[in-house]
Amino acid sequence: MKITKVKNSKLASVDFNNIPFGRTFSDHMFVAEYQDGKWQNARIEPYGSLLFDPACLALHYGQSIFEGLKAFVTQTNEAVFFRIDKHIERLNISAKRMCMPTVPATMFMDAVNTLVTLDRAWMPNKPGSSLYIRPLMFASDEFIGVRPSNRYTFVIMTGPTGPYYAKPVSLLASDQYVRAAQGGVGEAKTAGNYAASLLASKEAQLEGFDQIMWMDAKEFKYIQEVGTMNIFFVIDGKVVTPATDGAILKGITRKSVIDILKDKGYEVEERLLSIDEIVEAHKSGILQEAFGTGTAAVVSFISDITYKGYRMEMPKSEDCKVGLLAKSTIENIRFGIEEDKWNWVQKVVVPESIGA
Ligand SMILES: Cc1ncc(COP(=O)(O)O)c(C=O)c1O
Repeated sequence: MKITKVKNSKLASVDFNNIPFGRTFSDHMFVAEYQDGKWQNARIEPYGSLLFDPACLALHYGQSIFEGLKAFVTQTNEAVFFRIDKHIERLNISAKRMCMPTVPATMFMDAVNTLVTLDRAWMPNKPGSSLYIRPLMFASDEFIGVRPSNRYTFVIMTGPTGPYYAKPVSLLASDQYVRAAQGGVGEAKTAGNYAASLLASKEAQLEGFDQIMWMDAKEFKYIQEVGTMNIFFVIDGKVVTPATDGAILKGITRKSVIDILKDKGYEVEERLLSIDEIVEAHKSGILQEAFGTGTAAVVSFISDITYKGYRMEMPKSEDCKVGLLAKSTIENIRFGIEEDKWNWVQKVVVPESIGA
């Protein structure tokens, strides 16, 4: 892999006590191109603009996928990734669904190990902070016409993120818009899913809500997920989350939370969950917790849910012991405080080409 280092690092200009999410990018990025049936020209270069033609297929027909994962500094000052194998697996599930080439795990790991080692100084080491890693792939044929591209560009960019103090979110259960339907592309982390959510979110925000709670596309009855998080409820002592059905993104935090809570002795049900059941549980006082899960905040509590004009206040976040337990367990495993019994944490390996 060819490595071109920056001449002048931007690091000194970053205020590590105040890092706005998604706006600060580390010095280097990884780029590779897929052409003639193989990945080639893998390189690390200074972070910067990419050149593409206006006929670039991704811009027109949306063949574009991404991932979002994090690297952390542990209490013993080691740089580690969290569940990186699952993110590679999901990237390739997205690639297959969008008719794109898969990324070999070895290329991915070489790229990310080199990138994180080169930009190690960009990794915040305060608890709760992390280095966000954003892999992305897009179709790069210069062609107008609907067909899979022959050429693709794969990029990995990174950026520091501060601790994420998410305030409880107010949700509108949409009976007007859907995020994804069975048979569609909801299970892929593809750009169009996020574009499809924007109008619904914007309208909900104008009404004072933070995010949409997405329902199934057929009956607008079964809960799918919220904003860009999976959703969990605690009903009468049982943890319930919608079963993934082809339309719901298979969240890696979701799976981690399920494994942790089962391990801690909770009964966890993955099943169809209707909004009517939530309304009934709320009315009868057995709805004990509501929270979303995702890489960004691990767990975000839900303040209220409104469905067809009926507003339900959710239990206070400080009383959500199941959600708080899931959150602290994941954070402690990442920080190296709690035993990593499932081998979710993987050390960043310093590539020989860079040296220790
Ligand atoms: C639509 C959607 N649902 C759920 C999630 C949560 O997934 P994860 O826990 O893997 O971050 C994300 C974030 O990646 C998302 O974009």
